[in-house]
Amino acid sequence: MKLVLNGVTIEAVQGDITREAVDAIVNAANSSLLGGGGVDGAIHRAGGAAILEDCYRIRDRQGGCPTGEAVITTAGDLPSQHVIHTVGPVWNGGNQLEPDLLRNCYIHSLQLADEYELNSISFPNISTGIYGYPKPEAAAIAVKVIQQYAETGNGTVTHIRFVCFDHDNLALYEQQLHSLNDESNESK
Ligand code: APR
Repeated sequence: MKLVLNGVTIEAVQGDITREAVDAIVNAANSSLLGGGGVDGAIHRAGGAAILEDCYRIRDRQGGCPTGEAVITTAGDLPSQHVIHTVGPVWNGGNQLEPDLLRNCYIHSLQLADEYELNSISFPNISTGIYGYPKPEAAAIAVKVIQQYAETGNGTVTHIRFVCFDHDNLALYEQQLHSLNDESNESK
């Protein structure tokens, strides 16, 4: 599913984010920035030691990465140019600021992309794996942030891809993007 909103192409695809040839892929990291399982493990494995070396330099400078914040490193051997590491919230029932923290992951990743004047970015479904965030709610938050980014219209990113690893997430993102497309057409 692909749509164009205010000049920003937004699409949901199924695939492996380590194969994305975009300006930056986003990693669902943990606050240590030292790698882990899931997409974090896949990115470090495919990208190689250069990514972790950059993460160590960031740790030396600022310690780790707080939940909801984002940092940027080289992409090493990956086809993308950069990796933006962001730390999603662990789902604890939804009353410990999880929605705001997840929203901040997308907001701060896009802010970094703008700072580096990037044009294309691929997101995984942050927090919906090991961190247990319910997929429907996470998809709605992700798409809403990207809608607001596109509608504001003063960012550098003109191509945003949601790279879904499982079919459940793909179906949810396609549903969200269809609704956004209908909403956008109605307002024309
Ligand atoms: N490409 C795209 N998406 C992927 C890939 C991949 N290669 N591998 C996994 N995913 C998907 C998962 O299916 C899930 O939908 O990424 C989403 C996020 O899941 P996790 O990687 O488990 O990330 P998260 O839930 O945010 O938990 C973060 O897991 O790997 C550790 O170090 C990480 O402690 C941190 C925690």
